[in-house]
Order: sequence, then C-alpha cells, then structure tokens
Amino acid sequence: MSENTQDILIKEAAAAAAVSGSLFSTFDIIMLVVLFGAAVWWLYSSRKDNKKDDLLLSKYSIQPAATIEVTENSFITKLQSSGRSLVVFYGSQTGTGEEFAGRLAKEGIRYKLKGMVADPEECDMEELAKLKDIKNSLAVFCMATYGEGDPTDNAMEFFEWLKNGDPDLTGVNYAVFGLGNKTYEHYNAVAIYLDKRLEELGATRVYELGMGDDDANIEDDFITWKDKFWPSVCEKFNIESTGGRRVNKTI
Ligand SMILES: Cc1cc2nc3c(=O)[nH]c(=O)nc-3n(C[C@H](O)[C@H](O)[C@H](O)COP(=O)(O)O)c2cc1C
Ligand SMILES: *[C@@H]1O[C@H](CO)[C@@H](O)[C@H](O)[C@H]1NC(C)=O
Repeated sequence: MSENTQDILIKEAAAAAAVSGSLFSTFDIIMLVVLFGAAVWWLYSSRKDNKKDDLLLSKYSIQPAATIEVTENSFITKLQSSGRSLVVFYGSQTGTGEEFAGRLAKEGIRYKLKGMVADPEECDMEELAKLKDIKNSLAVFCMATYGEGDPTDNAMEFFEWLKNGDPDLTGVNYAVFGLGNKTYEHYNAVAIYLDKRLEELGATRVYELGMGDDDANIEDDFITWKDKFWPSVCEKFNIESTGGRRVNKTI
C-alpha cells in the first residue's frame, strides 16, 4: 500500500467517523490500523512456524492415522520398503508366541532372510496373497491356542477371515509353529488348523508344523523345531546354509 492510499484510507475513515458522530478520533483509527496490521503479520508468521514444526514432527513421530492408515497396516509395503522378505506373525496372549516370533525374525538375517515381526491384528491380512510378489518371501506363524481350541484375541479376526473367506494363496510360502499345553483337550488346535487351511488355500508349506507343549518344555520344542526349519528353508530357497553361523563374504 502506498503512503498516499494509506493516507486517503485513514482520512476517509476519519471522515466517516466524523460523520457518524466522531466515535473515533483520527488517532484511534491509526491505532486500529496498526493493531490490525500487527495481528495479520502475527497470524501469518505463526502459521509458517507451524508448518516448520509439522515438517520436523513428520520426521520423528507417527503421523495422524487418517492420512497414512493404508500404508501403516500394509505389511507388504513395510517389507518392500525395508528390503525384507520374512514376516513372522504371532498369536499370543501372554507373550511366549510373540517372543518366539521375534527370535525367528531376528535369526532370519543369518540366512539372508531379513525379517520382521507382525501382529495380525495390526495388519491387513488380506494382503497375504501379495506376499508371493516378493522374491524368496516367507510367512511364519507362531500361534498359541486357548479355551476350546480358540485363537488368541489378536488372531481372532485373521482366523475368521481364513475360515469364511476363500482367498487364493497360491505361491505364498509359509510355516507354522504352535504353542499349546498337552493337558488341554484341544492341544494346539489353532496351529493344526492354520497349517492345514493355508495349504487348502493354495499356499506352500516350506517346513512341517511344529508344536510346542507348555506342560513339558516349550522352549526346547521351539529350538528343536527351528533348528530343522532353517536348513529346510535354505534348501527350498537355494540359500547357502551356514549352520546358523554368519559367513563373512568380504575377502
Ligand atoms: C486359560 C488357558 C487356556 C489354554 N487353552 C489351551 C488349549 O485349549 N489348547 C492348548 O494346546 N493350549 C492351551 N493353553 C496353553 C497355551 O496355549 C500355552 O501356554 C502357550 O504357550 C501360551 O502362549 P502365549 O504366551 O503366547 O499366549 C491354554 C493356556 C491357558 C492359560
Ligand atoms: C498346562 O496345563 C495344566 C492344566 O491346566 C497346568 O496345570 C500347567 O501348569 C500348564 N502348564 C503351563 C506351563 O502353563
């Protein structure tokens, strides 16, 4: 705004004020203009600051769920963007299954299978069919059984989908390790069902179903299973097995 127009505006406003009974003096009007200008400037600059904060925050924190929900729940996208090919799902109530899943995911790196753990409740499990698009990919399931042979709370939805749906899982590699307690009538029922159902839906079992008995020694059962599971996976994927030891290929 040039000084001229500002002057004219102020004079006009003053004139208007004079007409309307001199409610405002010229000084009042100048003050109002100055305050208004300051308010506009303040609003504008604080908005710029907010933008800067948003940018910083987006780097370090979780973004609002609404905008990225789709990608957040996509374990396929997560696998692809982090160069992983192994996903270990767990159905766990008191943490044993989750712990086993974590160990498997970590061990994968020894066999050139970079892994990640995933809670089926947090994932869009319908994406399972897309796993075949990732080279040498594998889904492992560490699933506990409860109640009348029921899945854990976090695996409930996944099981309903498997039972009622009819997805084509052709080309999806999988293995199941079950957690149970032999003193229950429905011993490892969830793992037994899952192992059978995935095959029915066209998926490829890379290693036989493992069953852990919490009434004996479930840790031993798990170790015995995984020590045969890894060589079998390596053979299927043509990965040079190192017997569990890392091989340093740089000479
Ligand atoms: C209340 C209760 C019910 C259970 N029901 C079964 C069952 O029906 N069949 C079975 O094989 N194991 C059953 N178990 C054993 C658990 O599956 C086993 O302890 C498992 O290791 C728990 O894994 P988590 O720690 O990952 O939840 C049951 C355990 C509890 C405490
Ligand atoms: C297995 O189940 C039996 C019967 O409920 C129970 O006595 C035992 O403590 C359970 N074992 C474990 C390790 O929870």
